[in-house]
Amino acid sequence: MNQNNLKVAFLASEMIPLAKTGGLADVAGALPKYLSRQPGLELMVFLPFYREVMKKNLPVETVVEKLNLDWPGSEKEFSVFVYRAEGFKVYLIKNDFYFDRDYLYGTPQGDYEDNGERFAFFSLATLQVMKQLGFQPDLIHAHDWQSAIIFAYLKHTYQNDPFFEKTSSLFTVHNLAYQGLFPREILSRIGLPEYLFNPEDLEFYGKVNFLKAGLLYASAISTVSPTYSQEIQTPEFGCGLEGVLRKRSNCLFGILNGIDYVEWNPETDPALPANYSVRDWSGKKVCRRVLLSRYQLPVEANQPIIGMVSRLAGQKGFDLLVESLEDIFKRDVLLIILGTGEEKIQELLKQVQQKHQDRLGLKIAFDDRLARLIYAGSDYFLIPSRYEPCGLTQMYSLRYGTIPIVRSTGGLKDSVVEFDPQTLTGNGFRFERYQTNDLVSALDRAVSFYEKDPYWSALKQQAMKADFSWEKSASSYLELYHKLVKP
Ligand code: ADP
Ligand code: GLC
Repeated sequence: MNQNNLKVAFLASEMIPLAKTGGLADVAGALPKYLSRQPGLELMVFLPFYREVMKKNLPVETVVEKLNLDWPGSEKEFSVFVYRAEGFKVYLIKNDFYFDRDYLYGTPQGDYEDNGERFAFFSLATLQVMKQLGFQPDLIHAHDWQSAIIFAYLKHTYQNDPFFEKTSSLFTVHNLAYQGLFPREILSRIGLPEYLFNPEDLEFYGKVNFLKAGLLYASAISTVSPTYSQEIQTPEFGCGLEGVLRKRSNCLFGILNGIDYVEWNPETDPALPANYSVRDWSGKKVCRRVLLSRYQLPVEANQPIIGMVSRLAGQKGFDLLVESLEDIFKRDVLLIILGTGEEKIQELLKQVQQKHQDRLGLKIAFDDRLARLIYAGSDYFLIPSRYEPCGLTQMYSLRYGTIPIVRSTGGLKDSVVEFDPQTLTGNGFRFERYQTNDLVSALDRAVSFYEKDPYWSALKQQAMKADFSWEKSASSYLELYHKLVKP
C-alpha cells in the first residue's frame, strides 16, 4: 500500500448486503464501494456481526479471535472477521451476547434495552482493532447515533494516545430524530467519565445523548441533503439539537446521497419478472400485472397504481396518509403498500385495508424483491414524510420510471422537481404543507397527466434520466475528507 494513501475508518450499524433496516444500509454499502474506486484512499469499514449477517452464510474469514476489550465490570471478548465486499473489506465485530439477536435494534414492540452498551461496545472495539492491525486512520467517518459515541472515546479515552494523535473525524447524520438516549448511569457502564454528564457535553434533558458525541466532538458534521442541513438548524426539525448544530454551522455540510445504478437497474434487475428501459417500456407493464396479482388485485385493472415502500415510523407520514384515504379513494386509483415497523402503524394500516380491500393492497414485511417489483410495477410512488433527511425511495422509483409524489422536505425537495406541463420539465410532484388538501391536490396534478402524451412520456423520460449516481456524491465526500485531515 502506498504510504501516502489517505486512511479512513468507516463505521456504520447497517450495510448492504449484510444487514439492513433502511436507507443507512444502502448508503453504508454503496459509499465505500464508490469511494474505493477513487485513487489514494485506503478504507477500513466496520459493522457488528449480527445474527442477520450470520444467517446469510456469506464467505467470511477470521482476522483475530478472542480479543479482550477493557469493559467496565469485566473484560469482554470479541473476535473480528472480514467480509470482502466489492472493492473494500468489511471488518465484522463479533460478540454474540450483544449481536446474536433476532433484530438489529429492537423488536416491533420497542428497542433493546441495552442498545447503549451494544453500540458503545462496537465503537470502542473498532478503535482497538485499528490499533491491533496497525491501521492508523487519518480520518474516522462514523454514521448516526450508533457509532457517534466513538468520538467520545477518541476524545476522552484515547486523548493522549499517540496512535490517534493525527486522526481527524467526520460524523454523518442520517436522521437527527434517532439520538440514542440513555440514563445517566450508562456512562459508567460503557467506561466513559461521569463529568461528561453536563449540558456542554453529552447530557440532554436528563439523559445521555450518544448523537451529541458526534455533533460536538467530530471535526465536521455532514448530513445527507443540503436542505436537511439547513432544516436541522431550526426548532421545527432540530429535535432539540438545533442550538448545537447552529453553533457548528461553519463545519456542517449537506451532501445528497446517491443510489447504486448498477444494483438498481430495471434493465437488468433479476428480481423483476420482466426488464425494461427508457427505450422499451413493455416490461414495465408485465411488472404491473405481476404486482397486482401479488396483492390480490385484479390484474386487468387500469387505474393508476400508487406504490409505497417504507419503514412504518412516525417520520414517514402514515397518519397523514390514513387521514387522507377517504379523499384519495374518491379518485380512481389503487394504492399498494409494503412496510414494516411500529406495531401501532401496522395495526392502523390493517384496519384501513379491511375497509378498502378492493383499492388498497397491504403487505407487512421486509422484502427487497417485492420492493423492487413495486418500484417497477407502480405508476406513481408516494412519500408523504413529515421530514426526510434524504430519502432513497424517490430515487429508486425515478430510476424505475415511476413518478414520485412527495412532501417538499429535506432530500425529497432536493431530488424531485415539480413537473411543468408548459415546458415539459420536471420529474415528479411536490406538496408543501403536511395536510390532506395539499397531498390530494398533488395527487390530482399527478394523475391528470396519467398516460396522456406528451406529458406522460416526458415525465417518465425525465424520471429515468435523472442522475443520482454515487460517483458525484463520493467525490464530494472525498473532497471533504481531504479538507479535514491534519497535515
Ligand atoms: P429510511 O432510511 O428512512 O427508511 P430511505 O428512503 O433512505 O428511508 O431508504 C429506505 C430503504 O429501505 C430503501 O432501500 C427501501 O427500498 C428499503 N425498504 C424500506 N422498507 C422496506 C420493506 N418493507 N421491504 C423492503 N425494503 C424496504
Ligand atoms: C435515514 C433517513 C433517510 C435517508 C437514509 C440514508 O434513514 O431517514 O431519509 O435517505 O437515512 O441516508
